[in-house]
Amino acid sequence: MHFNIVTLFPEFFSGPLDCGLIAKARGSGLLSFSFHNPRDAARDMRRTVDGRPYGGGPGMIMLPGPLGETLRGLGFSPRGGAVPGPLLLLKAGGSPFGQAKAAALAENATRTREPLTLVCGRYEGIDARIEELFPTEAVSVGDFVLNGGEAAALCLIEAVSRLLPGFMGHEHSVKEESFASGKAGGLLEYPQYARPEVFEGLAVPEILLSGDHAGIALWRRQASLLATRQVRPELAAAAPLAPEDRAFLRAVARPSAGRNLYCALVHYPVLDKEENSGAASLTNLDIHDIARTSCTYGLGGFYALTPLEDQRELLREILRYWISGPGARSNPDRARALASVREGRSIEDAAADVARRTGTVPLLVATSARAEHCGLPVMSFPELAGKLETMPLLLLFGTGHGLAPRALEACAAVAPPLRSFGAYNHLSVRCAAAVIFDRILND
Ligand code: ADE
Repeated sequence: MHFNIVTLFPEFFSGPLDCGLIAKARGSGLLSFSFHNPRDAARDMRRTVDGRPYGGGPGMIMLPGPLGETLRGLGFSPRGGAVPGPLLLLKAGGSPFGQAKAAALAENATRTREPLTLVCGRYEGIDARIEELFPTEAVSVGDFVLNGGEAAALCLIEAVSRLLPGFMGHEHSVKEESFASGKAGGLLEYPQYARPEVFEGLAVPEILLSGDHAGIALWRRQASLLATRQVRPELAAAAPLAPEDRAFLRAVARPSAGRNLYCALVHYPVLDKEENSGAASLTNLDIHDIARTSCTYGLGGFYALTPLEDQRELLREILRYWISGPGARSNPDRARALASVREGRSIEDAAADVARRTGTVPLLVATSARAEHCGLPVMSFPELAGKLETMPLLLLFGTGHGLAPRALEACAAVAPPLRSFGAYNHLSVRCAAAVIFDRILND
């Protein structure tokens, strides 16, 4: 496979491309590299390659002239002309480069023998017309800013090269790694152990010493599933899982996840229509429906919170009617749901009760239709699910027009807002609770 590297700093690459498996692959002819410096295509005496951005702003921009000339020299024609192979531009604003893209590039090079051309941006970026004229695909290697695309190009070269047939000693070792599209299929790697059997008092898991190959494969698969769900929940959510994987996650991880999730319906301090902070009245419907949903999703508990004594008395009356009064006789299922409701005065009361029951202070997470504006970090649903693996989480739902700033101050994060599909966005709090439980706990 041949890489054309367009860079103002070809010397950046000596060293990384001269050692280890890459050097070996160059020696055997599997890999080759050529370097193309836009400075060589600059026409003026000073060989200028950068200029100030039109419209002002900091830093310099790579000029389109020398860069375009370099690409023409590599066989690319502007405006839909000749394309000798894929042309990637490395820049922080590109689309995320991942294992699937690396595999596609390695497969294309193996099948077509086309070279892969990498353009390393420098300064504040390149003149935007280059991307308009040439068939470039902009990629980024992560959500951070480098001095230029060279270090990113090295990551990409290594990720692609190691997928070429013949690059690694054992093909199967590539397949089983994290993110590979083979057996591990979009999951993180399982933990590995080597000599000695006991290190600093820690023994290697027994199954790995058993010689039971099917048992070992199952243990590894399940370890991958759990590691991915804990560390990268968004990957676990997107991975193509077999029915037995899903059954395993349901059986092992989900019940405990559900048990670690608590919710509180907050009646004070909440906002009214005019955005004033105060107390809202308890409603029969919310208590019934959130209790039923909490029970259905196996939550650790549901707190109905109000500091007003008459409102708490109303709550007790509702609960008495349905748990031990006439309601219980006609509807025992409802009695079971309402028996799970816990009364409390404040958010602090509910958090203290969760801490007492679980031995761990819960992570307080707000919910809001205007999550982006409430000054708290927004935690994605897979992230919230991941947190549940290690700590209890207390989700706060505001009645009235939502949680007041003083309630938000108690929280570490806010769940993503539920979006409407049109201009109307007025879910009842009990409906929002159901959707949010499902987004956190679903398969
Ligand atoms: N150039 C600067 N930052 C980069 C990044 N994160 N990925 C690719 N190219 C870059």
